Amino acid sequence: MSDKSQPKLKEYISEKKISGRINKLAKKLNKDYKDKNPIFIGILNGSFIFLADLIREINIDCEIDFLKLSSYGDEKISSGNVTLLKDLNCEIENRHIIIVEDIVDSGLSVNFIKKLIEDHNPASLRFATLLFKKDMSKLTFKIDYIGFKIDNKFVVGYGLDFAQKYRNLKAIKVLKTKNQTEN
Ligand code: IMP
Ligand code: MG
Repeated sequence: MSDKSQPKLKEYISEKKISGRINKLAKKLNKDYKDKNPIFIGILNGSFIFLADLIREINIDCEIDFLKLSSYGDEKISSGNVTLLKDLNCEIENRHIIIVEDIVDSGLSVNFIKKLIEDHNPASLRFATLLFKKDMSKLTFKIDYIGFKIDNKFVVGYGLDFAQKYRNLKAIKVLKTKNQTEN
C-alpha cells in the first residue's frame, strides 16, 4: 500500500554535476581573489556543504566565518521576515567579503545580508550561491557567482532542507508533497 502523504524525491542535479560546477566556480574565485585574502562567509545552515566543498578547491589564502539568519520554519514559503540569529565573529572592515549561500529564492535574505555587511565598510562584497531560482528573485543587485539557475521548484539535499530533513543527501532533489500536482 503506498502512502500518499509521504513526500517524493526526484533527482534534479547529480553529485557529479555539482562537483564539476564547484571546480569551475573555485577556479574563478582563485583568480579573482589572488593576493586579496578574502573572507568567505557561509550562511547557516543551508550553505555548510557547499562552503565545505568550495573552500577545499580554493588554493589562495582565505578565512571563513558564518552568519545565521531566521529560517523558513517548516514551511516552503518564506515568512518575509529575515532576522539575524548568529552574527559574525570576525572584523570585516576593509576586507574582501564573499557571501556563500545555498540558494537565492525571493532574494530577501541576500538583500538583508548586503545591507548588514555594507554597514561595516568592507573593501568589497560579492555573493556566491549554489542555486538561483531564476523566476523568483526580487533582487535589485547582481549575484556574482552562480552554480546553477533553476526553475521554481522546491529542492532539498546537499545542505538544503525541508523541515530540517534531507540536508544529508549527496545530490539535489526536487521535493513533491501530496498536495502538489506539478513542479
Ligand atoms: P530567500 O530569502 O527567499 O531568497 O530564501 C533564501 C533561503 O531560503 C535560502 O538560503 C534557503 O535556506 C531557503 N530556501 C529557499 N528556497 C529553498 C528550496 O527550494 N529548498 C530549501 N530551502 C530553500
Ligand atoms: Mg539559507
